[in-house]
Amino acid sequence: MAQLKPFTQIRGEFCIEVRPQPCGMIIFGASGDLANRKLLPSLYSLYRRKLLSKNFYVIGCARTPLDDLSFREKVRGALAESGQDASAPQMGEFLELCHYASGNYSDPAFFKALTGRLAELDAQHKTGCLHLYYLATPPNLYASVAECLSQAGLIAPEGATCWTRVVIEKPYGWDLESAMALSRSLHRFLREDQIYRIDHYLGKETVQNILMFRFANAVFEPIWNRRYIDHVQITVAETVGVEHRAGYFEQAGILRDMFQNHMLQMLSMVAMEPPASFDADRVRDEKAKLLRSIRPFPPENLDQWIVRGQYGPGLRDGVPAAGYREEPGVDPQSRVETYSAAKVMVDNWRWQGVPFYLRAGKRLPRRVSEIAIAFKSVPHSMFSPISTEDLAANVLVLNVQPEEGVCLQVQAKHPGPRLCMSSLSMDFRYREVFDEDPPEAYERLLLDCMHGDQTLFVREDSMEVSWALIAPMLEAWKAGPTGEQAGKLHDYPAGSWGPAAADELIQRDGRQWRKP
Ligand code: BG6
Repeated sequence: MAQLKPFTQIRGEFCIEVRPQPCGMIIFGASGDLANRKLLPSLYSLYRRKLLSKNFYVIGCARTPLDDLSFREKVRGALAESGQDASAPQMGEFLELCHYASGNYSDPAFFKALTGRLAELDAQHKTGCLHLYYLATPPNLYASVAECLSQAGLIAPEGATCWTRVVIEKPYGWDLESAMALSRSLHRFLREDQIYRIDHYLGKETVQNILMFRFANAVFEPIWNRRYIDHVQITVAETVGVEHRAGYFEQAGILRDMFQNHMLQMLSMVAMEPPASFDADRVRDEKAKLLRSIRPFPPENLDQWIVRGQYGPGLRDGVPAAGYREEPGVDPQSRVETYSAAKVMVDNWRWQGVPFYLRAGKRLPRRVSEIAIAFKSVPHSMFSPISTEDLAANVLVLNVQPEEGVCLQVQAKHPGPRLCMSSLSMDFRYREVFDEDPPEAYERLLLDCMHGDQTLFVREDSMEVSWALIAPMLEAWKAGPTGEQAGKLHDYPAGSWGPAAADELIQRDGRQWRKP
């Protein structure tokens, strides 16, 4: 496919200014993977870009006894590991803002000591009593940490000049019942406006851009419906396997890991109605409404709507790769899905009859996340003998990663006397146009917590609807008393695009998966 020159003109910049707010951020689980790989590097990047308030500090909390100086050395190591220059003067300044508190999260004495520490650091960094708690702990501790914070008087009451915000990582519950139970436990101590359920896909630039793209341009919205759109494909393909997370993944599977959250959130952004304003609750009202319009999967013929697969031995970048069941920590008889493809119908006026095909999988040939809007073909070809079938329909691709951007595929004439047409791609790539890579998703989301903006966080109602949608599959796929399980688990070789049954799912409708 020929390439046109990318868009290079940026005109008329309009920004919504947000001033960084002072705060103290308390990370529970500060020695864990998430803190080291994502949270601390994102905070440092915000610091370097002067996006944090001057009145800011971090307290890392974990079990290991450490003093501030040893914690700072660990933070330095984590930042260096993430590719930052450990000798940069800004790194030293940032490390000065990092403190540490060790203790047991179920011990009230730890929270009592934390109260004193926060008061001290609030005074030292002049942050006021504005506290952002990040729960990067195992999920079974979420409710008890909230309870201990409350007992220690660390949760600001409604109307106070102080604020408390609590970020909850996924998995948020294990199924609908446990997710609702978690919400009930948290709500004993926290209001909904204090709970930030994070889905890091919502912090990715291209995912945020869906809203600007759809609602800040006049050309797309009039054709964003069943009259012009044939179908939509949402793909999250990963080359990695289960890695060191077998313990978690054996319990979760791809449906809980990717569909209940990232996939359905992206679908809701693409398909929701225009919100009245760019306000957290107006946007989240529309997302929840859209999720409620999704047709429940019929338990009686689930296989026609959703396919699941598990990678077997194969190749990764041309090198032999083990199958899922041979991975360390995985049950050699495991029937957990590492791939899933689903056909989703949205029963409302805008989308009636337009299928949304969703697929996510591990050990696929390329790392790519994209949302492709496939438009209908032209109704008639005036270029006889070229037929309407010969003219490839337009596709608008929102590239979420790794090459963030937007690309529109159109038909165009080749130069010369012969009438030849082919697909051209009009590309906009973030890196080329803005001359920088988009920031890490966590940076944006952490800033939003500090600003108190919940737009990109999952509200309780959306979270429940998403669980309710995938519940029939979870139920059907649950092993019975003798180990039998409904829904065939299809094998696919590592390094392939998933099981043949996933191709059949879409081919039954006369369509094909894109090969990104
Ligand atoms: C996480 C899942 O939420 O998202 C992982 O738990 C998955 O299994 C990851 O690998 C994918 O995120 P990203 O940003 O690398 O596409």
